[in-house]
Amino acid sequence: MTTVIEVNHLRKVYKRTGKVAVDDISFKVEEGQCFGLLGPNGAGKTTTLEILQGLRSATSGEVTLFGLNWQKDEVKLRGLMGGVMQHNNLYEKLKVRECVELFASFYPSYTPINQLLERFSLTEKKEAWLSELSGGQKQRVFLAMAVVGQPKLVFLDEPTTGLDPTSRQEFWHIIKDLKASGTCVMLTTHYMDEAEFLCDDLAIINSGKIIESGAPSDIINRTFETPVIKEPRKATLNDVFLKLTGSSISKEESYA
Ligand SMILES: Nc1ncnc2c1ncn2[C@@H]1O[C@H](COP(=O)(O)OP(=O)(O)OP(=O)(O)O)[C@@H](O)[C@H]1O
Ligand SMILES: [Mg+2]
Repeated sequence: MTTVIEVNHLRKVYKRTGKVAVDDISFKVEEGQCFGLLGPNGAGKTTTLEILQGLRSATSGEVTLFGLNWQKDEVKLRGLMGGVMQHNNLYEKLKVRECVELFASFYPSYTPINQLLERFSLTEKKEAWLSELSGGQKQRVFLAMAVVGQPKLVFLDEPTTGLDPTSRQEFWHIIKDLKASGTCVMLTTHYMDEAEFLCDDLAIINSGKIIESGAPSDIINRTFETPVIKEPRKATLNDVFLKLTGSSISKEESYA
């Protein structure tokens, strides 16, 4: 397997405040894997993702992506990655179609725009200004922008916050497809079901330090001495929502 992300002893101290946001973290992510960064508000997840995306400098430590680094190989790296930032008001003056076309133009090849808009249920809104969209619709546009260029590595910072349950599960499908095509995904989320469903490996970060890491099932077994015995799962309110509002993913599949 090829290592796509390698992080060694990464540290970030914000100069103005002296805040140690990331405190000596190290991890690796392999090709085709989804790696999750979990942790409470202010734990250092966004800071880490921004450093990995070359949007912020590290105080110390090393970040290697595809064996390349931001100091020497910025142009090459930009062509291999896509991403969604947690807070993003940059594109309000563009239409949905224009946003996705703009991002497609950054890459050597891309998914046909209409096909992608259909996949994200945005066809009806393709001529709408971003400022006219609901929060969840905007989030879907950002996801389409992140994947349009068929990147080999995608960074997603809380990508499903604000999505309705149906859109959230459609998004899970899209991530599974991306992984199957060999794309590596790095994700932060506050939804534990999402992390369990999507992540091959994850790290739990607290006050800038990794306090636990590994495959979700290994972490659960390590954390609880007595194995957690799963009862047959009853329907939940989430299932009711999906059934009544229409979803493309079955319950069995989502809990597999
Ligand atoms: N530009 C900045 N200047 C100074 N401190 C910052 C800056 N950005 C973030 N911080 C601080 O660094 C710490 C980590 O912030 P970060 O945004 O990485 O957390 P997070 O894990 O993404 O949290 P959330 O779950 O709320 O998104 C916090 O204490 C935050 O206040
Ligand atoms: Mg964050």
